[in-house]
Amino acid sequence: MPYHPNPARYATMQYRRCGRSGLKLPAVSLGLWHNFGDVDVLQNFRATLRRAFDSGVTHFDLANNYGPPPGSAETNFGRILKEDFRGYRDELIISTKAGYHMWEGPYGEWGSRKYLISSLDQSLKRMRLEYVDIFYSHRPDPDTPLEETMGALDQVVRQGKALYVGISNYQPAEAAEAMRILRELGTPCLIHQPKYSMFERWVEDGLLDLLGAEGIGCIPFSPLAQGLLTDKYLHGIPDDSRVAKGVGFLTETQLTPGRLGQVQQLNALAQERGQSLAQMALSWILRDERVTSVLIGASKPDQLSDSLRCLDNLQFSAEELGRIEGILRG
Ligand SMILES: NC(=O)c1ccc[n+]([C@@H]2O[C@H](COP(=O)([O-])OP(=O)(O)OC[C@H]3O[C@@H](n4cnc5c(N)ncnc54)[C@H](OP(=O)(O)O)[C@@H]3O)[C@@H](O)[C@H]2O)c1
Repeated sequence: MPYHPNPARYATMQYRRCGRSGLKLPAVSLGLWHNFGDVDVLQNFRATLRRAFDSGVTHFDLANNYGPPPGSAETNFGRILKEDFRGYRDELIISTKAGYHMWEGPYGEWGSRKYLISSLDQSLKRMRLEYVDIFYSHRPDPDTPLEETMGALDQVVRQGKALYVGISNYQPAEAAEAMRILRELGTPCLIHQPKYSMFERWVEDGLLDLLGAEGIGCIPFSPLAQGLLTDKYLHGIPDDSRVAKGVGFLTETQLTPGRLGQVQQLNALAQERGQSLAQMALSWILRDERVTSVLIGASKPDQLSDSLRCLDNLQFSAEELGRIEGILRG
């Protein structure tokens, strides 16, 4: 079926300025780490991408290694861009990254100029794009000078292969240094992509303060702790879940009685707020204005729509926040 985007797609989404840049991102963005590889079903992920764009989700996040197999998420996304989103490129913010293992030999991972630039060239070919909107250093490299890694980010912008650059998984001190170098090079860091959820809160120890002070955007990944912060594991392990599929880093060992007890209590609180647990987990992150967008995954279109309804209630009373703290510390 030919795709005609929803004419009302910008009516309900909220857009937030990314730090002090000129770029706005949707408050909810979609990542293609899982569910868009060659092991997945094309009709399903096509429908998820259409649902996203129809709902005002303008930002899609990829990386060289997303799949499986690595690279296939970019290839599949490129196909759908061509078939469905042709003519809408200027309404999309597409990001990709390099940092993790992608090919054999000494130039296939980490943070050298050689790897980053070759990898972006490969990503552009797979996605059939002339440029990406955001190119990230996916992780800091302890063996490459930060000047070289940031210099490569500056270079791809000057080459016209990326419009903006970002960093991911950098701790506050190394993030501050990366931002300083990028600023001096004349290519300011647009955004930081850290892991952040109710169950993973390291960003609260300095990173969010740094990003707020520097005017850099923040797009937390895995805000649902890969599905743990939903009601899906409360009554066993569904066959179509990430844990059952066994393709990623979420395993049954993480479904401890203690964890499930917390999920149960959070789920009850979410219901009191008139939200699903997934919605509450996302609202809880978005209540901080230093967060530009939450970067979610979705294995089906309805899941995405459910998560998007987090935007209906971003307010928390002090009492609710206190109860959440109590559950998370308990
Ligand atoms: N920079 C990095 O190092 C890095 C690392 C990891 C991820 N990321 C980025 O972050 C994105 C999101 O990561 P993630 O997929 O781990 O995020 P997530 O949003 O924490 O988890 C997504 C999973 O949660 C479940 N889910 C989502 N919405 C739901 C709902 N409303 N109700 C019930 N279950 C729901 C689905 O699990 P099922 O599949 O079980 O249905 C879905 O696949 C990635 O695609 C990627 O772009 C970046």
